[in-house]
Amino acid sequence: MAKGVRIAGVWKVFPPNVVALKDISVEIRPGEFFVILGPSGSGKTTLLRIIAGLEIPTRGSVAIGDREVVNVEKGVFVEPRDRNVGMVFQNWALYPHMTAYDNIAFPLRLKRMPEEEIKKRVTEVAEALGIAELLDRKPGHMSGGQQQRVAVARALVKQPDVLLLDEPFSNLDARIRVTAREFVKELQKKLGITTILVTHDQADAFAVGDRIMVLRRGETQQIGVPEELYSSPANVFIANFIGDPPTNIYKLPTSHRLVKSLGIPQGVEEGYGELYIGIRPDEAAALKPGDEGHLEGRVVLVEYVGSRRYAKVDVGDGVSLKVLLECDANTGDPVRVRVQKVHVFAPSGERLATLTY
Ligand SMILES: Nc1ncnc2c1ncn2[C@@H]1O[C@H](COP(=O)(O)OP(=O)(O)O)[C@@H](O)[C@H]1O
Ligand SMILES: [Mg+2]
Repeated sequence: MAKGVRIAGVWKVFPPNVVALKDISVEIRPGEFFVILGPSGSGKTTLLRIIAGLEIPTRGSVAIGDREVVNVEKGVFVEPRDRNVGMVFQNWALYPHMTAYDNIAFPLRLKRMPEEEIKKRVTEVAEALGIAELLDRKPGHMSGGQQQRVAVARALVKQPDVLLLDEPFSNLDARIRVTAREFVKELQKKLGITTILVTHDQADAFAVGDRIMVLRRGETQQIGVPEELYSSPANVFIANFIGDPPTNIYKLPTSHRLVKSLGIPQGVEEGYGELYIGIRPDEAAALKPGDEGHLEGRVVLVEYVGSRRYAKVDVGDGVSLKVLLECDANTGDPVRVRVQKVHVFAPSGERLATLTY
């Protein structure tokens, strides 16, 4: 049976006064693939190290399954080696002078497991990860993707209750990243092991995560399935941070022409002098002049992303919007912009409404 992880009221303050984590609480379900997403310095590694027992929180508790592994208030602390957690560090931390076999066997030798049992376990995990033919090689003679699999094998060989992965794809180049993500996701589903992956890359998070928690400066911004983060961003930070190409975001007076053209404040609490308006490029389109839409504008840039074309459209009054280009306009041509969805945020950044047209 897979075990869940319950994090309750966790704070971490590094002396003298770096607040790395502020009151983090989340329940990760047994067998879930959970992603912690946030920019560099947001506290991701610190949280993972607290779960592994490599760092002690300043306040709060963590439980794996029914067992509390740390509870500052009650004075509970279970040593890392007794938590049955497997961790893959950001730099993989393989021993360069050891073969893949010896690297993977290392945690079992620490436990003084008989060599016969070790051989059985290493062979099993190596076969599951497709690295059986690499076992005699040293890390220097393996590709990045192969080294990563050896690091994952070393974490899995202990048959941990929870697998922790810190930026596992960041040392891989773009093409290998895609296969590595698929590999990790498929392996996780096959083994059903509760997995917590940390990344600063939204594409990693969206590729593998069942649910995603977004951290910023040590604080939870939103927890949800990928679709929720995309379609209902809780605040301006999430709207900005998630979405590719980036969301068009403007802080505008409510008297601004764009705000008026979109019929705001319809459905939005009144009384704000200014609002943030967020329009995702994929939720708006540039059409022929005269087509039905919200705004007139002029194309200032055309860009290809895969098979899609985007136009940056100057709609006047200091605003330009990147939107899907759905007519054959070129730079300099007039277009009509139709908006499907607009996310409206208060000046504090909190979401007020999402309007659909
Ligand atoms: N051992 C430490 N001593 C002091 N500050 C630290 C230590 N470890 C991390 N920090 C600080 O805590 C914050 C969060 O760091 P970290 O968890 O590594 O972020 P992330 O993994 O999201 O990049 C940063 O401001 C970092 O400088
Ligand atoms: Mg980190």
